[in-house]
Amino acid sequence: MSSAEPLLPMARRAALKAHAPYSRFRVGAAVRCSNGEIVEGCNVENASYGLSICAERVALFNAVARGLRPEELALSCLDAPADGPAGLRMPCGACRQVMQELLPAQATIHIDGVGSRRLAELLPDAFSLVEEDNCQ
Ligand code: THU
Repeated sequence: MSSAEPLLPMARRAALKAHAPYSRFRVGAAVRCSNGEIVEGCNVENASYGLSICAERVALFNAVARGLRPEELALSCLDAPADGPAGLRMPCGACRQVMQELLPAQATIHIDGVGSRRLAELLPDAFSLVEEDNCQ
C-alpha cells in the first residue's frame, strides 16, 4: 500500500482551515491526483446544518473542478481524542460514496490515527451506475 507521506501531514494542516463553529470538530483531507498535484479540503459548516460539507468532498470536488484525476486520499480528524474510538476518525458514508465515484476502487485511503485502507474495504458492494468504475 502506498505511503501516507506527505498526504497525512497535509490533511492535518488542511484541518486547521476548517469552518466548524457548530461541531467544533475540524477535519482535513488531501487528495493526490494522477499528475502528482495534491489538493486539500476542510469541512465547511453552515448555520443551516444540513448544508455543511465534509473535508473529503471539498478536496475531491476541488480536484475534479481543477480538471484533475484523484488517485489517493488522506483524512485527519484533528479534534478526535487520542484515546477515543476509531469511529470518530473514519470517513462518513456519504463521503465513501463520493470516493467510490471519483477514486479507483483500489485507491488507498489513509486515516489519521487508524491506518490505511482500500476504498473497496471501506465501501464493499458499492452502488454504481457504470460497469467500469472511475471512467471519466
Ligand atoms: N466530517 C467530515 O468532514 N468528514 C467526515 O467524514 C465525517 C464528518 C465533518 C462534518 C462536520 O462538519 C463535522 O465533521 C462533525 O460531523
